[in-house]
Amino acid sequence: MGSYSIGDLSRREILKMSIVLAGSSVAFSTNLTAAEVALRRTPAQILGPFYPLNKLTRNFDLTRVPGRTGHADGQVLNVMGRVLNLAGKPVRNAKVEVWQANAYGRYTHPNDTNPAPLDPNFVGSAVLATDPQGRYRFKTIKPAAYPAGPDLIRPAHIHFQVSGRHDRLVTQMYFENDPYNEKDPILNSAGRKELLITRLLDPSPEFDPDSKVVMFDIVLFKG
Ligand SMILES: [Fe+2]
Repeated sequence: MGSYSIGDLSRREILKMSIVLAGSSVAFSTNLTAAEVALRRTPAQILGPFYPLNKLTRNFDLTRVPGRTGHADGQVLNVMGRVLNLAGKPVRNAKVEVWQANAYGRYTHPNDTNPAPLDPNFVGSAVLATDPQGRYRFKTIKPAAYPAGPDLIRPAHIHFQVSGRHDRLVTQMYFENDPYNEKDPILNSAGRKELLITRLLDPSPEFDPDSKVVMFDIVLFKG
């Protein structure tokens, strides 16, 4: 892994992250005393059938396709968080791969048979690297729920594959109040599914006022 996306973040953007991250928290075990605080590993989820076939790009703005003037359809999200190990230490230079459906519930993947439209202005995937404080961020749109079988509609989610030096986690990030969360067998296979469900937060003044902020911390075993 190189230090690619760290270099992509301007000082101003890192400052933005710091402001938002100051208000974030990760879930601590309630069975431990303060002196024994340990984090819970983020639950794993299946990779799913739409892991990108093409090499992932090192672009952290998925809402614009290089060379095009348009913007992706949908609610803009600034997704950010930290990659930590069980001891709460930041995992620097972790590789964070993300991929997701567009605002109509369609993946840019030849195996996706959903007739929903493709969005020519949406980059459906990216690879990022965490900075020395374990932070990552990307700009995207909120994906839509999509049909995944005769009796199954997947709730909106973003796929993550996070690789540290010692271990790797494949998971999916969900959104609070999605009507399909309750019956989704994949989300409900997670022991502590609440660790995978995020909330849309109002942006601080540094961000586009029409966008939302999503905090998603990811905990590996060793990092
Ligand atoms: Fe998916």
